[in-house]
Amino acid sequence: MDRRKFISFLGKASAGALITPPFLIGCGSTTTPIAGENVSNSQLNRLKNLKLESIPASKVDDLILTNGMNYHTIIKWGDAINDKDTFGYNNDFTCFIPLDKTNPKDGLLWVNHEYVNPLYVSGYNYRNPNTLRTKEQIDKEMYNVGGSIIRIKEVNGKWEMVFNDPYNRRITAKTPIVFNWDYPICGKDSAIGTLANCSGGITPWNTFLSCEENYDDFYGETVYTENNKSYHKKSKYYQWEDFYQYPPEHYGWVVEINPKDGTAQKHIALGRFAHECCTLYELDDKRIVAYTGDDANDEHLYKFVSSKPSSLKEGTLYVADMVNGKWLPLDWQKQPLLKKRFKDQTEVLIRAREASKVLGATQLNRPEDIEIDPISGNVFVTFTNNKPKNDYHGSIVKIQEDNNEFDSLSFTYSTYKAGGEKNGFSCPDNLSFDLAGNLWITSDMSGSSMNKDDKPYKNFKNNSLFVVPRYGSQEGKVIRVASAPRDAELTGPWFSPNGKTLFLSVQHPGEQTEDKDNPTSKWPFDEDTIPKPAVVAITGDFIEKMNMLDKIV
Ligand code: FEO
Ligand code: CA
Ligand code: CA
Ligand code: CA
Repeated sequence: MDRRKFISFLGKASAGALITPPFLIGCGSTTTPIAGENVSNSQLNRLKNLKLESIPASKVDDLILTNGMNYHTIIKWGDAINDKDTFGYNNDFTCFIPLDKTNPKDGLLWVNHEYVNPLYVSGYNYRNPNTLRTKEQIDKEMYNVGGSIIRIKEVNGKWEMVFNDPYNRRITAKTPIVFNWDYPICGKDSAIGTLANCSGGITPWNTFLSCEENYDDFYGETVYTENNKSYHKKSKYYQWEDFYQYPPEHYGWVVEINPKDGTAQKHIALGRFAHECCTLYELDDKRIVAYTGDDANDEHLYKFVSSKPSSLKEGTLYVADMVNGKWLPLDWQKQPLLKKRFKDQTEVLIRAREASKVLGATQLNRPEDIEIDPISGNVFVTFTNNKPKNDYHGSIVKIQEDNNEFDSLSFTYSTYKAGGEKNGFSCPDNLSFDLAGNLWITSDMSGSSMNKDDKPYKNFKNNSLFVVPRYGSQEGKVIRVASAPRDAELTGPWFSPNGKTLFLSVQHPGEQTEDKDNPTSKWPFDEDTIPKPAVVAITGDFIEKMNMLDKIV
């Protein structure tokens, strides 16, 4: 895109025309350049002329950053956020909302806590199945998933949590959360808690979205036979159902949290499956388009289009038929095949995976994060891998809605980048566009596959963060800019509103540890020398140059 078009885009974007509401401006996941008309030719040229160097793949147990990037830890697992609560485990999605739009240095950070390592959190050794588990252990695990809201401020270039701030709070697997639906779910109008909170999103009305991904690891799943008879399939990992008999149908939803008071709701209309993320676009008439993927082998990609302004309840959920480029409505009223198998729309939404297959939706290679390119309007989706189908390295796919209308019912798509040796990354997971439209990618090779001699992941070494420059001679190249501590995954990349900070989660360092006194990682090198998931703030010249902020006041 040439400068004239780019600047005109910036002008449009600042008016909220191309990418929605002005408040989203600078909020990472749906980043829109804020520099606007202030971007000069020379700034763009500086960006085009940058020579970026990949750091080498590394097995070192540390968070290693390229030149011009520095990090400091904002918060880590177990840190007290106030007199009664502590920060949860395995931080994933992060989302920063400034309290006052005129001050980008003071606001609320939401952090997802996806799952726990019982070895450190509850003391239960899941590698030894003969060990007795107690309710107290399960209660500890339940406390450490969900999410945290913390007030953070930037003081002298360092982000700090405000301890005991009235906004600081925890949402856990014990927090009651209402269903945003007119009918009960398994006889109830609310669920106990949220869990498996992987990635998420932000709404135009300034609330957080947190997505329940591998929900069946906690209370199991209700499975249906061919004859439509149901039975309970036990959870593989956590077996909380041994102590709390909560219906599996209460989990696997998109959860919305109000940052100001911590109230939360689960959005039934967006369907139930292993939601990785939920990425919203607000149409001119304020109706909402929500993209969300099901991160499991051979599952699907969805989009919800609301029929009313600002609603995540009234509307239609569609599932992607990639072969024919069609969005298929998961609408019980209009689809005789769904009427045959399910008793009503609520059941279609609860059993969205099955309903999608009934309609012939395309089975995909684990759709993970979704971001809308702020410049082209293309919808980028990562497919992390699908090992049984011999897709070990995944890919990033670009969807173009017909006529560039996000509520269109047809689309085309192409592969933007394939994972593998040629592009230097494997198993893409989270995505984020920065203020200049460069694409940032994190990788998620599983801890059990990384750095093994006999596995296809050997040469990629530790999980990493990459940037794909949008301009200049390196346009489209995948540049490694950070390498994670051992066994960890870098998640939740989110740019601060002024583009000067990249918030990033370091999740599950030392996950392959068998003996907790001899961990595989000691990051972040605390006095107690045990690995701890933590959220860091990355700042520095490199971040500012990529965001075209260099030499602007
Ligand atoms: Fe929790 Fe799909 O990553
Ligand atoms: Ca993920
Ligand atoms: Ca993202
Ligand atoms: Ca993943």
